[in-house]
Amino acid sequence: MCGIIGYVGTRPCRDILFRGLRKLEYRGYDSAGISIIDGGRFKLLHSVGNLDNLEARLSELDGEGTVGIAHTRWATHGRPSNENAHPHTDCSGRFAIVLNGIVENYLSLRSQLQQEGHEFTSETDAEVVAHLIERAYRGSLRDAVAEAFRQMEGHFTYCAVAVEEPEVIVAVRKETPLVVGLGEGENYVASAIPAFLSETRRVIFPEDAEVVVVTRDSVEITSLAGDTVSRSPQIVDWDEEAAEKAGYETFMLKEIHEQPVALADTLAERVGPDGRVILEGLGLSFEALRSLRQVNIVACGTSYHAGLVGKYALERWARLPVEVEVASEFRYRDPVIGPGSLCLAISQSGETADTLAAMRLAREAGAHVVAVTNIVGSQATREAHGVLFTRAGLEIGVAATKTFLAQVMAMLLLALYVGQERGHLATEDVRGFTEELRRIPGLLRDYLEEGAAGRVEQVARRHTNSRFFLCLGRNISLPVALEGALKLKEISYIPTDAYAAGEMKHGPIALLEEGSPVLVVATDSCVYDKLISNVQEVKARGASVIAVASEGNVGLTDMAEEIFYVPRTHEMLSPLLSVVPLQLFAYYVAKHKGEKVDQPRNLAKTVTVE
Ligand code: F6R
Repeated sequence: MCGIIGYVGTRPCRDILFRGLRKLEYRGYDSAGISIIDGGRFKLLHSVGNLDNLEARLSELDGEGTVGIAHTRWATHGRPSNENAHPHTDCSGRFAIVLNGIVENYLSLRSQLQQEGHEFTSETDAEVVAHLIERAYRGSLRDAVAEAFRQMEGHFTYCAVAVEEPEVIVAVRKETPLVVGLGEGENYVASAIPAFLSETRRVIFPEDAEVVVVTRDSVEITSLAGDTVSRSPQIVDWDEEAAEKAGYETFMLKEIHEQPVALADTLAERVGPDGRVILEGLGLSFEALRSLRQVNIVACGTSYHAGLVGKYALERWARLPVEVEVASEFRYRDPVIGPGSLCLAISQSGETADTLAAMRLAREAGAHVVAVTNIVGSQATREAHGVLFTRAGLEIGVAATKTFLAQVMAMLLLALYVGQERGHLATEDVRGFTEELRRIPGLLRDYLEEGAAGRVEQVARRHTNSRFFLCLGRNISLPVALEGALKLKEISYIPTDAYAAGEMKHGPIALLEEGSPVLVVATDSCVYDKLISNVQEVKARGASVIAVASEGNVGLTDMAEEIFYVPRTHEMLSPLLSVVPLQLFAYYVAKHKGEKVDQPRNLAKTVTVE
């Protein structure tokens, strides 16, 4: 949450910083600000609301300053306002900082500083950092930043600049992202690579508690104590075009259409010529796989739904008991986990605070932890014993789509792999599934190219005034119903519930009245007949059924007002196709309601706070 960028170089940096913020806007967008050192003082600009508001006022920040820091905020402490927008400065106006994360002990630090005479101008936790630096400064910004860090608790990344050292940015991180971009005669620091991807692909990922001093010609990394740390640059091969909308009206729509590629890339090189699954990097030996006793999946939001798909697959194919839990609950339980447990932590960003905490708990208890993530170099990859990368490419839309599908693909591959290695699946069964998995990207591409979006849009347009949706599914289609409901809630703001279809008569059926729209995931499955009975039950209460069904299914035509047909596949792989019309449905309901689909209210793409 929150995006930060800093630039030090020879070019006037106002527009460079603003362009960087644009690329980070998905991390938060309730206020923003820029601070540039110019003529021995800071020039500061703050604005409330998203970056359009800051852009409209950019010309107020004139000058040729070539060093600056900027921030786009997702409010945690203090409502969105000019006062609470970053950068924050100290009492003397000599230091400015931007921060992402939370300073957990800020109240005690703040009252200490106030007793010493420091005056605060905002309600944020971040402002204490500027005052801590002011208090600690003895002629070295690097040392003052390190000293402030020692006094702070929580998880955060911050960058500081000082008018007395006008050619330097100092940055440090603790459990939240920080990446350094290396240019020619200029350097960057940021929360994420897209912020400077148009300028450089050479990056360094500093570790926690390493103090990074960046000038236009150098990047020096030291431990808190001041010992030199050497970190080699890496080259990122991300496609810059991927960060643009490429002709689509929104990132979310573009990302929905990128799903065939995300699936193909996540599958690539993971199936051998004999059709068996090859997964490297899990850090699990054959013996360790064989002696596994249980799997614990931890994740949040959409990633949790991918974990639920993983449960059905692992139980069926690997015959292991699987628990899936939202990370914020898992971390505060006393879970029964230890040696012999495989903990799968699913997080597209690899930075979600609750998921990271759950991983640590599992690791300390002796479990083998594997991160399933989309981001190379993310915190989750550093804290896990092994990593399974999804390869969905950069996702900007706040509502996850292509990363979800890639996570589902990763879960299916992992379940097949564990089943095959533990001897529960015969080679010909694995081959059958992997051959079918290989067909899916093409099936999905054809489905999208043949006008699926237009058909869903027609139906969605008629539902912009609906007051409520219910989504139903059974078995491996239940996570699909849950994910469809989450998309509707996130971007259309229409209250939506999701239920196991067989559970409906135990309560939620009472919600239904004449015409209530009920979305049912009714693709081919072993529980199809049971599901049809549930559809009859909702019909009998007057519901208007919108079904997702396997192509060629004519049995539903009398029961459903609308049917979104998806290509036929094996039921265990069906979430890879059946969720797509639900993503599109949510998208078009939100669009025709006039909502800002890429920037849903109150949300941020990366949730680095508890
Ligand atoms: C929903 C969505 C969120 C995330 C959740 C976890 O569209 O994007 O629910 O899935 O915040 O994020 P990651 O996967 O980054 O841990």
